Amino acid sequence: MTAHALAHPFSAPHWKQIHQLLDGLDDRQAFWLSGYLAARAPADNPTLTPSAGNLVLIGFGTETDNCRALAHRLAEQCRAVGIDAQAQDLGQVRLRQLAKREYLVIITATHGDGDPPEPIVDFYQALMGEQAPTLEGIKFAVLALGDSSYERFCVTGQEIDARLEALGGQRLIDRQDCDVDFQNPAKNWMARLLESLPKSRQATPASATPAAPAVADGYSKARPLTTEVLVNQNLSGAHRQAPIHHLELALDDPAFTVAPGDAVGILADNPPRQVAAVLDALELSGEEPVTVQEQALPLVQALRQYCDLTIPGSAFLKSWAELTGDATLTTVVEAGTAEQRAFLKRHQVLDLLRRYPAHPDAQTLVDTLRPLQPRLYDVANSLAAIDDELHLTVKRFQYDFEGRRETGVASRYLLDLQPGDSVRLYPHANTRFRLPDDANLPVILIAEGTGIAPYRAFFQALAAESRATPCWLVFAEHHFEDDFLYQLELQQARTDGHLERIDTVFQDQHPGRALADPLLEQSDELLRWLDRGAHLYLCGDKARLTEVEKALQERVDGQLGQGHWKQLSKAKRLHRNLY
Ligand SMILES: Cc1cc2nc3c(=O)[nH]c(=O)nc-3n(C[C@H](O)[C@H](O)[C@H](O)COP(=O)(O)OP(=O)(O)OC[C@H]3O[C@@H](n4cnc5c(N)ncnc54)[C@H](O)[C@@H]3O)c2cc1C
Ligand SMILES: Cc1cc2nc3c(=O)[nH]c(=O)nc-3n(C[C@H](O)[C@H](O)[C@H](O)COP(=O)(O)O)c2cc1C
Repeated sequence: MTAHALAHPFSAPHWKQIHQLLDGLDDRQAFWLSGYLAARAPADNPTLTPSAGNLVLIGFGTETDNCRALAHRLAEQCRAVGIDAQAQDLGQVRLRQLAKREYLVIITATHGDGDPPEPIVDFYQALMGEQAPTLEGIKFAVLALGDSSYERFCVTGQEIDARLEALGGQRLIDRQDCDVDFQNPAKNWMARLLESLPKSRQATPASATPAAPAVADGYSKARPLTTEVLVNQNLSGAHRQAPIHHLELALDDPAFTVAPGDAVGILADNPPRQVAAVLDALELSGEEPVTVQEQALPLVQALRQYCDLTIPGSAFLKSWAELTGDATLTTVVEAGTAEQRAFLKRHQVLDLLRRYPAHPDAQTLVDTLRPLQPRLYDVANSLAAIDDELHLTVKRFQYDFEGRRETGVASRYLLDLQPGDSVRLYPHANTRFRLPDDANLPVILIAEGTGIAPYRAFFQALAAESRATPCWLVFAEHHFEDDFLYQLELQQARTDGHLERIDTVFQDQHPGRALADPLLEQSDELLRWLDRGAHLYLCGDKARLTEVEKALQERVDGQLGQGHWKQLSKAKRLHRNLY
């Protein structure tokens, strides 16, 4: 069943609003609302009668929306076969409410370095904590999404699965760990799960079941906007190894909306040279027809746009071992998951193709390579100020690999784009990284490098809306002369009164100075801002900003009492956008 075929009575914007509202409700509110709507429904409409007693809660933990889309799809499938189910962001779920459920399905990703998705950190900590309630009587199942190229593959799902059992829950079906090609394993797991959930009423006709929001919303990973590059300009020093560029992209469709704090997902192409090298190694022309995501394409396009040509996955390794019959590869495949992962970590796709030559048919090749993943980039402008462009601030990502210096796929692609080139992208909402609704509450904005991007969007929004929000910016980069990103605009914001305080940490001026230092040195001022209800934002390099947060937490808790920082987090006054 495709979501397009569903005929609910709402317009797309209206439907989006409904989903935004539902995702923001906690258990109690959702339960109350379902009863309220049921009471208002015509008595003879069986499709609108909830029997919340055995309502299945499908809690999701997501950052890039895969788990959200799966959770909504599962809820839709449940309702279609007469199972009362509701998909809900685990970030909105309170543990005590969970304990009252009979059926709990968790669909969660792992992010960071084996961390729970940021929106569910509080939920996760409460579940893992000593105060967690007993969950005896609860029946649960866990679907874990991850990426096997990360050291700690699917650990959040694994930890939650183990914890639910330790707290007395009863597993309905075994956990499924999914790699980046999660669609099929997730589909099969859901089909098995549907067999173990209770049907509480007659099946709901498909026309009355709500669609997954990702599809109903318009632009998505599967349906990106193709747009044009207007400007691609180096913002940083000419000799810098990892330059930072400012990109301006045309935005001609008013239906494509992003708010300050949101990102876009970029569907990058692999470099033509890398595609040519793969075709050469395999002695294929590139014209061979293949099918990817139900589309017929020439192989060269599939390799350019849809296949990960960098990281080989275990499916590729197995297929390559079979094709080549090579003893080393066969030994690795037979040795088990840990050995396979260690081997894959030392090889990129081209290393395998060159070291272990083989001649697969084109379709087998695209079926066994991992799907190329979109990358997120924060939007650096406010549509309230510039409504027909999207601005990005992108740093070339470089890393060492087996003695070579490599460049990241998407950042290289973006930095190489020329005005007039086209680019595919979709909006990615980050509702936890927004300016406070109350314009009088101050904000403290801490950025490292490209972390400045969403703050530029904030300043534009504040100016466009004539908001009087007091802002304090702390920004770090390498060189004062070369790397003061958006310096003139920040000075303008200061002149216009939108930027009350600014502190910078440039390594060439103050080697070794930490990003947290300006705030620690002015801790009385920091505490005054927090006392006035300030929201604090952290954006940019994860390792560096995690250190900043640790230092600030120590200082704030030291001065205001243990647990104060956690309270800020609970009150949703800490906003993190770390990568
Ligand atoms: C919410 C969010 C907002 C962001 N905003 C911005 C922004 O505004 N500006 C910005 O510049 N960036 C931003 N980023 C980061 C961005 O999304 C990318 O992660 C970054 O640009 C690097 O992507 P890349 O494709 O260039 O590198 P990649 O191609 O993803 O880098 C390759 C990675 O693969 C690993 N690897 C290589 N070979 C193997 C192997 N065989 N096995 C296992 N691993 C291997 C490497 O170690 C490296 O980590 C943001 C990220 C997030 C999550
Ligand atoms: C910045 C980042 C860090 C990630 N870290 C991990 C990790 O440590 N372990 C893992 O198994 N997967 C990791 N992943 C992969 C995600 O779990 C995977 O892409 C998943 O499908 C995302 O689901 P979501 O869209 O619901 O957030 C990471 C992905 C990103 C973008």
